[in-house]
This record gives sequence, C-alpha cells and structure tokens, in this order.
Amino acid sequence: MDEKSKLKDLVLQAFHFRHATKEFDPNKKISDEDFRFILETGRLSPSSFGTEPWRIVVVQNAELREKIKNTAWGAYGKLPEASHFVLFLARTKVDTKYDSDYLRNHFKTFKQMPDEHMEKYLSRLEEFQKSDFKLLSDESTDKLDLLGKDRALFDWASKQTYIALGNMMTAAALIGIDSCPIEGFNIEKMNQLLEEEGLLEGGRFALSVMAAFGYRVKDPNPKTRRPFDDVVKWIE
Ligand SMILES: Cc1cc2nc3c(=O)[nH]c(=O)nc-3n(C[C@H](O)[C@H](O)[C@H](O)COP(=O)(O)O)c2cc1C
Repeated sequence: MDEKSKLKDLVLQAFHFRHATKEFDPNKKISDEDFRFILETGRLSPSSFGTEPWRIVVVQNAELREKIKNTAWGAYGKLPEASHFVLFLARTKVDTKYDSDYLRNHFKTFKQMPDEHMEKYLSRLEEFQKSDFKLLSDESTDKLDLLGKDRALFDWASKQTYIALGNMMTAAALIGIDSCPIEGFNIEKMNQLLEEEGLLEGGRFALSVMAAFGYRVKDPNPKTRRPFDDVVKWIE
C-alpha cells in the first residue's frame, strides 16, 4: 500500500472507531500529553472570519463535575467516570458583533492586520452579519437576550465551536481515545450554573456544547449510517 492509501486507511479506521461512548472506564486516564494534543486540534480549528469565538474549558474538578452531572441529563454515564470533560463556550454578541472591542483587538493583536485592512474586513463582517446571514436583530438592546433577540448571532458563534468539537473527537479517535459529544441539557439551567461558577465572564460567554473524553467500557454497536448515495449528491 502506498503512503496516501495508508493514511486514508488510518483516518477511516478512526472514523469507524469513534462512536458516542455511553460509558467510560473510571480507571483509565488520558495522559496530559495526549489531551494537550487533542486540545491543540481544537485551538487550530477554523472559524468563520477567523474570529475564534470560543473558549474550551476542561472540567476536572470533582465538585463542579457533580453539579454538571445533576444538571445535564445527557452527561449521565459520562460523569464522573470520563477522564476529561470539556465545555465549549461560545462568545456572545458582546464579543462577536462586528463593532466589538474583542474583534478589533483580535484582528489587530492575533491576526496582525494593518489598520486599513482591518477596517475593510470589519465592514465586510458588518455586511455579512446584517444582510448576508441576517444575524442581527433590530430589536436587540444593551441587555443580552441569549434565547431571543440575540440568538442568531450567538448560534453563529456556537456553530464554530462544533468544528473544534468535531476535530477534537477525530484527533482523539486517531490515537485510540473515546469521546461523546453532549447536547443533552437545559440551556438555561446550564448557563445559570456556569454563571454562578464564574465561568461566563458576566455574559461574554455562554454554553454551546459539551464533550466527554476517556476510554470505553464496552464495544459499541455496529455503526449505522444512511447509504452513501442517499447522503451525497453530485451535480455534473
Ligand atoms: C452535537 C451532538 C450532541 C450529542 N449529545 C449527546 C448527549 O447528550 N448524550 C449522548 O449520550 N449522546 C449524544 N450525542 C451522540 C449521538 O446520539 C450520536 O453521535 C449519534 O447517534 C451517532 O452515533 P455514533 O456517534 O455512535 O456514530 C450527541 C451527538 C452530537 C453530534
């Protein structure tokens, strides 16, 4: 087999290996080095306009894990057993609206954009948020209304976090580590808990999605997916 075929084989094996792990082995821990590698693939993930509107919070604290377990039904069977538990926070309109201080600082400091270029880039982003994707509500006020008027903009940031989540799950699978994405929670209750824990920085962040990482207890059921030709359509 040539190098490319071997790589393709490895990647596909990882996709077959990955499954939504229902039960984690409490006695098996991911090494710091391996988890750092997984986190790095999240950090290097792409985001729309390169805004990186996320924070990845690794929750290893037993008390907070217990609170999350009692609040998020989807975490059942994953906490406290999972080796590592991750919250994907997304930035709210405070930081993601085209005229935010966060974006100016981000593009200047981390993307090293010259001022003139940045002004043009932000105008493009303004147009995108207002007209292309219609992410801004005319009724939005200074008060954050995460589940109402400010939802579209938050969901846009939230979508980006799922790219990091996907990449991290694939990276984990490539080195034999299991994972489970978790959306099974009441968004208001979880945000309230995380706000009380001081993790949302007074409205700068809100919870997008969570994930558990570790090692499986038992083998999964065979993978089921719709047929290739049902999922993929070619226009020639
Ligand atoms: C965004 C997202 C959220 C999910 N939330 C949960 C969850 O809260 N609890 C759970 O046990 N599985 C959860 N799952 C797992 C899915 O049910 C699972 O990925 C799907 O049924 C396909 O099975 P597979 O991942 O084993 O191939 C979630 C999956 C995704 C992508």
